[in-house]
Amino acid sequence: MAVSGQGCMAQETTVQEIGRLVVVGVGLIGGSLALGLKAARGCREIIGVARRSEVCEQAVALGVVDRAVTDIETILPELEPGDVVFVAVPTLAVEAVFAQLKNGLPGGVVVTDGASVKGSVVTAAQRVWGDVPDFLVPGHPIAGSEQSGVTAARDDLYIAHRIILTPMENTDEQHLRRIQTMWESVGAEVLTMPVAEHDEVLAATSHLPHVIAYGLVDTLAHDAENENIFRYAAGGFRDFTRIASSDPVMWRDIMLANRDAILKSIDLYTSNLDSLRSAIASGDSERLMGVFTRAKAARDHFTKMLAKKAYTETMQATEVTFVARPGGAVNGDLRVPGDKSMSHRSIMLGSLAEGVTEVEGFLEGEDALATLQSFRDMGVVIEGPVDGRVTIHGVGMHGLQAPPGPLYVGNSGTSMRLLAGLLAGQAFDSVLTGDESLSKRPMNRVANPLREMGAEVETAEDGRPPLKIKGGRALKAIDYTLPMASAQVKSCVLLAGLYADGKTSTTEPAPTRDHTERMLAGFGYEVLRDASRASLVGGGSLTACHIDVPADISSATFFMVAASIAPGSDVLLRHVGINPTRDGAINILRAMGADITLENRREVGGEPVADIRVRYAPLKGIQIPEDQVPLAIDEFPAIFVAAACADGETVLTGAEELRVKESDRIQAMADGLRILGINAEPTPDGIVIQGKGGDSAAPVFGGGVVDSLGDHRIAMSFAVAALRAGADIRIQHCANVATSFPNFAELARRAGMNLEVS
Ligand code: S3P
Repeated sequence: MAVSGQGCMAQETTVQEIGRLVVVGVGLIGGSLALGLKAARGCREIIGVARRSEVCEQAVALGVVDRAVTDIETILPELEPGDVVFVAVPTLAVEAVFAQLKNGLPGGVVVTDGASVKGSVVTAAQRVWGDVPDFLVPGHPIAGSEQSGVTAARDDLYIAHRIILTPMENTDEQHLRRIQTMWESVGAEVLTMPVAEHDEVLAATSHLPHVIAYGLVDTLAHDAENENIFRYAAGGFRDFTRIASSDPVMWRDIMLANRDAILKSIDLYTSNLDSLRSAIASGDSERLMGVFTRAKAARDHFTKMLAKKAYTETMQATEVTFVARPGGAVNGDLRVPGDKSMSHRSIMLGSLAEGVTEVEGFLEGEDALATLQSFRDMGVVIEGPVDGRVTIHGVGMHGLQAPPGPLYVGNSGTSMRLLAGLLAGQAFDSVLTGDESLSKRPMNRVANPLREMGAEVETAEDGRPPLKIKGGRALKAIDYTLPMASAQVKSCVLLAGLYADGKTSTTEPAPTRDHTERMLAGFGYEVLRDASRASLVGGGSLTACHIDVPADISSATFFMVAASIAPGSDVLLRHVGINPTRDGAINILRAMGADITLENRREVGGEPVADIRVRYAPLKGIQIPEDQVPLAIDEFPAIFVAAACADGETVLTGAEELRVKESDRIQAMADGLRILGINAEPTPDGIVIQGKGGDSAAPVFGGGVVDSLGDHRIAMSFAVAALRAGADIRIQHCANVATSFPNFAELARRAGMNLEVS
């Protein structure tokens, strides 16, 4: 039987990537591709094939296909090279369709499919053709709905959805490209992967949830005591079981076709459910919290991934750009987020302590959250963060468990270097990985001393991440003289020293932040400190405590500089940590003439804290004292902006470490400052900046586009520069501001800056 409609939708202007599309099985999946291609004018004609003539008529009447037949063999002789046959029938019916195609499919026609299991499609092809033919491109659109049938077909079903193609070694390249183009033209994102990998991934992420949803609804529906259950079932039930309304035939087929991979997933899930059952039975609140907090973190991460995907899909952009409008001043009373260094350390030490550690003021930025997630991955129950509050159920010095996979710490050098020290002392192997920027940063500075302690640490080429750390090594104490002033290296060695036999000492060439030493003492671990030397004896234990993380002076610096360069500014920064190993920015800005006063000085949890008041004052260029460099190491990008607004020359030396931060901060700032019209000359260990400011409100910077290179502090520094710019400053690649100061734009606007995020 054959049914015809109103002709085809070919337009002369259209680039024809494929000729005809034959859709075998005009249901939701096949019909939606047909409608999508029609909307995109992506082919010359669409022919539907359905077993029942009513479906053929319906498909034509709905405009899903141009014509339809019940017997595919009748149209095979018409097909030409470049045409595509899309087999969109239930998984187990694919073989019968292949058998019909076998005798009569003209050369040059591509066959693809939409079955949810690829192993069974490949087996079906082998059974029919003897081998998988090169014109078969197995595929699987990861899209659908619990509705089925041709009436459910939609032209937008595949927009922003993934299509997985699983080409074989012999798959024809041109055919593969044609299918890829076909899916892209209906708005899908096409990925390729091996057949076995596809089936395992789908078993876990799609097939298992369907088994569970069907099983749960069936259990409840058959439970006599629960006969009223659906009447009272609310959102949770609805969200969780939506997929149990899917097509039973399709899902029965999938279960049978992907048997082995699904059984593996079911077994894993069953044992997890058993363990949850016994935790509930025995009132094991900690185990329940462990599973729930880990699962929540994973789900939140997934939600964010989905949101980012939606964002990039609609905005067609993966980047965050700051557009900083010129002029303005900063005023008011602000509290910037918690100290990043202390936030990392609070999670690390809290996890290894005996007892429950409560943290407040925790920085909910991506870097500190990466540390938090790493410890969750190693089995630590961590509640929060909620409004900066985190509760850590410490597992003791030897209570960490092997993580299920590599620990991914994103952009965070502190996480990677400090964790390396702790992991060297564990009984299990571990791998630390990071993002593109972190993957370029030097790790031999920690790997070398750890090796001296007897650890087995492997790096990638040139000492770059990932770090592979072997567990179960007996560590021996060392007396380590740091070749560079680095708190991360010092902390790494001291943390490994907790697991070493004997007394581990570090000697630093200049004072660096001492939060590790102070916090260890706060957790009751004795640290001997004598000038530049810090020592501890391994084998002790940590006792849980309460930690109040003050606001981060590194984040506060952006507002200190903002107020110092913008006439009319007067800002109060609350509860900022002013540890003498971190106060270089205050000293340097004051030396330049900044009006900074420290009010309400106090000590909180072993760390000095104050409210910092900054009023506008004209600045002058200075030679920055080298002893201040490690004390202001993260603040230089902002200080360079202050230098550009000062009267006269500012010279920085002894700061080669700036070249190996999240970016080469000397080069990145020099490049950006030059684009904005400042004479900034990089040197191997610093920079020389000719200030254009002084006692006037006149613009110092021109407008322009600068690249932050994904470095949070470069991004925020140029945003501050706009206060003294003559035109917009557009700052590229600002997404990483979220690593240390997630609400920067909001606070900046509240203070009076005109900053747009796009
Ligand atoms: C940090 C130490 C510093 C600093 C980083 C945080 C820490 O790094 O730049 O942002 O928390 O120990 P180095 O140790 O590389 O100087």
